[in-house]
Amino acid sequence: MTNPVSCHRDGGVLVISVDNPPVNALSHAVRNGVCDALGTVGDSSAVVLACAGRTFFAGADISEFGKPPMAPSLPDMIAALEDCPVPVVAAIHGTALGGGMETALGCDFRVFDAKARCGFPEVDLGIFPGAGGTQRTPRLTGLDPAMEMCVTGKPIDAKKAAKIGLADSIATEDVLASAIEFARSVSNKRRVRDMDNPEADEAASESWRKFAMTRRRGEHAPLLAIEAVEASITLDVDAGLDKERDLFIGLITGQQSAAMRQLFFAERMAAKVNGLDTTPKPVKSVGVVGSGTMGGGIAMAFANAGVPVTLFDANAEALKNGLARIAKLYADSAAKGRMSEADRDARIARITPASGYDGFADSDLVIEAVFERMGVKKAVFAELDAACRPDAILGTNTSYLDVDEIAASTREPSRVLGMHFFSPANVMHLLEIVRGAKTSGDTLATALAVSKAIKKVGVVSGVCHGFIGNRMLKGYGREAGLLMIEGASPEAIDAALYEFGMPMGPMAMADMAGLDIGYDNRKSLVAGEDFEPLASAVQDKLVEMGRKGQKTGAGIYKYEAGSRVPIPDPDVDAMAEAVAKEYGITRREIGADEIVERCMLALVNEGALLLGEGIAQRGSDIDVVYANGYGFPRWRGGPMCYADSLGLDHVLERVRAYAAGPHSKWWTPAPLLAQLASEGGRLSGWSKP
Ligand code: CAA
Repeated sequence: MTNPVSCHRDGGVLVISVDNPPVNALSHAVRNGVCDALGTVGDSSAVVLACAGRTFFAGADISEFGKPPMAPSLPDMIAALEDCPVPVVAAIHGTALGGGMETALGCDFRVFDAKARCGFPEVDLGIFPGAGGTQRTPRLTGLDPAMEMCVTGKPIDAKKAAKIGLADSIATEDVLASAIEFARSVSNKRRVRDMDNPEADEAASESWRKFAMTRRRGEHAPLLAIEAVEASITLDVDAGLDKERDLFIGLITGQQSAAMRQLFFAERMAAKVNGLDTTPKPVKSVGVVGSGTMGGGIAMAFANAGVPVTLFDANAEALKNGLARIAKLYADSAAKGRMSEADRDARIARITPASGYDGFADSDLVIEAVFERMGVKKAVFAELDAACRPDAILGTNTSYLDVDEIAASTREPSRVLGMHFFSPANVMHLLEIVRGAKTSGDTLATALAVSKAIKKVGVVSGVCHGFIGNRMLKGYGREAGLLMIEGASPEAIDAALYEFGMPMGPMAMADMAGLDIGYDNRKSLVAGEDFEPLASAVQDKLVEMGRKGQKTGAGIYKYEAGSRVPIPDPDVDAMAEAVAKEYGITRREIGADEIVERCMLALVNEGALLLGEGIAQRGSDIDVVYANGYGFPRWRGGPMCYADSLGLDHVLERVRAYAAGPHSKWWTPAPLLAQLASEGGRLSGWSKP
């Protein structure tokens, strides 16, 4: 194996260069190479540590986690940088993340490229900086900024890094040349470990604890990160590093981190499709049909990524309103300081209204986001087929409908696929990419590349009613509806699933989405075959009474004017009781454990079914869908990973137990679940052979 570390001298300065593509992760070979290189300092006056390629170290090599440690460890390498007899300067470009930033903190000085960013994204992997970051950062920045970086995981830019004391200089031109120049100008070491302890800051500790408990509810790492940073106030650096290590080891060997690391690789794996080796087509301009909430959000997602958008709606008034809503959303963001006014104006200017389908004549990709009715969609696609360039790609944002039937209304179905965004489309990270029977490789590869360009996680699904995400949700919603009839109150159902880690329970979610959406959808399905009428009996009655959810001020819950806070309604309990009576069901006390088990296992069994059918390519793709589109707690890794953590033999036994109960028809164990349980396999690790 070639050594990723090389050295050369520039005058009296020893330059250590690391080249470990794609992101210079701090693998064993890199750590070893850097330690060896530090042994060759000789009579050099200073050392510069730099990386080749697109970035400074992006962190520890995550693929080594969970494997036996190999010396030198990252803390050993950082100690070697500190022990180097001459000053060491880090030349930072791209992103110095996690262990990469901790390496930079082991250097005496840090020179940043003007576009460089740094941060501690470890919390997103269920850990915190475990190689001195929690002890060295606060010694440079004080407590508050160090906690912010460790708890939020958000990277900061070079300007902010300079402001809080992490960057000693910002290079306006070549960062390596600037770092070498900087190294020549310093003669003494300035180790962060020798700096004074930071002062206590109770307000910062309190406010970051509050943040961790609300914004990162259920996660262990953010709270332990705060505890580790606080240790820097009183402990000397070595004792602080020991405390950091102890807490870190507890996290990295735990279930949460294993789940979040798995999700990290799953999100990158999702973009890879077996046998797809076509080059994506360039997409420089996009069209969107339909200027409602969804169409507007999709237009914004592209405008945010710098792609010009043509927006058309057959209803001129709706188009005007849609444009006004987009302008207001951008104005609100700018007012909150999330973007500059110039940026706001540039994004708005990227969205151009069109007065007809001919406005799409030059678009490389057109996405339809009109009313969810097959007839309407087909008519739009026939128009697009006639108006667009023959090589333009046509995407439908349908959430349930048959993409193949939509594609059949064009002359060239190979250029048609589903591009299912999640609302609000400018915010949510998931994009389900639905591959129709005739979708070409080019079309699919282009949609995947587009997804990355607009910073979404694209997951490929086959065609079925509801694709991966909404199809699985059917069982989850069915169990919630049945639990309500059998005796659990809506608020008990919501509380149990909120406690499990979902951002909101299924009842509150149904009210937010609108009960009429499910109601309309059921009309196109066959009761008893595609859905359980008993489970939706209360919701059906509510819709027929005009109680459609938040938007009408009442649904399963009641809402005060202008408020989204659900208020339990005894009338709804009475309706559930009446339905139970009508169907001869004896209501009973139902505990949180049963609520979670039934809702989750329904999700898992349906996931295993659709894997077996080939709708999803791999179990981990399902996890990516649920973590990014449905708020499934990342620290549980997704429904498939959660099932694995329960043990598939246990899951199968419980599914069989429900199959022997009153709703047996919905609980036939998925063949793949039974197979993997007998083989000791994992759902999240399964992929289509
Ligand atoms: N270790 C191993 N592999 C990594 C990696 C890491 N730290 N970071 C990225 N990769 C891999 C990805 O899996 C991907 O591999 P494939 O091409 O085989 O799929 C490849 O590098 C490119 O990654 P992206 O597709 O994510 O590239 P990008 O340009 O979109 O983003 C990035 C680059 C911002 C660096 C992003 O990869 C990223 O955020 N990486 C993770 C950073 C991180 O979490 N660092 C902390 C590590 S934990 C740590 O350091 C703990 C400690 O304190 C000891």
